[in-house]
Amino acid sequence: MKKIILDADTGIDDALAILYALGSNECELIGITSIYGNVSVDTSVENSLSILDLVEHQNIPVYKGSEAKLGSDTYERREITKKIHGHDGIGDVHIPKSTRSAESKNAVDFLIEACEEHGSELTIVATSPLTNLAKAFTKAPESIKKVGKIVIMGGALTVTGNVTPYAEANIIEDPNAAKTIFESGLPIVMVGLDVTMRTLITLNETKALRKLNTKNSELIADMIDFYFRSYEGRLSGVYGCPLHDPLAVGIALHPELASTLAIDLTVETSGASKGRTIGLMDKLNEGSPSTEVCVQVDESKFIELFMESLKNICK
Ligand code: RIB
Ligand code: CA
Repeated sequence: MKKIILDADTGIDDALAILYALGSNECELIGITSIYGNVSVDTSVENSLSILDLVEHQNIPVYKGSEAKLGSDTYERREITKKIHGHDGIGDVHIPKSTRSAESKNAVDFLIEACEEHGSELTIVATSPLTNLAKAFTKAPESIKKVGKIVIMGGALTVTGNVTPYAEANIIEDPNAAKTIFESGLPIVMVGLDVTMRTLITLNETKALRKLNTKNSELIADMIDFYFRSYEGRLSGVYGCPLHDPLAVGIALHPELASTLAIDLTVETSGASKGRTIGLMDKLNEGSPSTEVCVQVDESKFIELFMESLKNICK
């Protein structure tokens, strides 16, 4: 069992990442740290709690983290994000609201303490802007350096971005935070658009979920179908959606699913290419890069594992 913390801005694919982690026999989800991104940080907390309640995992703690990018105290939700994830962030399918609240400890402190406590046994999977992680690293670098691995859903090395031609959504939300993390020397696995845009599910999968005929299977299939509609016409003839955030959990649990390129990265923080993840020229000739970028993925194997976990959690 791998110990995992999910750092999530809980929209639809983050919710699917949570469900996948909970349904997998290989994962011990020890907490969810919340952050702004797809939704405000408060909605992100609410959505994570609601998803946990839905599948009766009220034992998993949720911590509130950053409200906005580094150096700012305002967050503005992009119009496009409402279309992709719905007004409530999880597909407007009326998932019952949780009555629970976030833990009193802040997400940043939880990340620091978890790295101290679990060290190399811990994997942090960030499926969101990297503000919480950058704050934790700046506050306690020696503690965060004890982590086993940081798997990041974010960035695009060999393909174009999804917000600008250069930038992927999680990175452009806070390029400075992303730069801090990518240049930190921490052991990173980047699960970017290079692989997530190849990992598509379609109506076949939501139909299979509906056939399970449980209360949750219908709701979860409805939520995924909402996500499909937002991708309509954007996936070269395929009607479906990419599994961005679940794939990051998948690769954290099964690194063999991906082929990687070892290279130190940086993030551009200004100009037209703001938010671009790109090789760090100064370190190109140094040995032992700290980042592995996923460039190929066994998508059919992953989708098999994903569906297996979803079926487990929908019982
Ligand atoms: O670019 C995809 C990422 O942006 C995912 O994490 C999705 O949830 C959104 O935040
Ligand atoms: Ca996300």
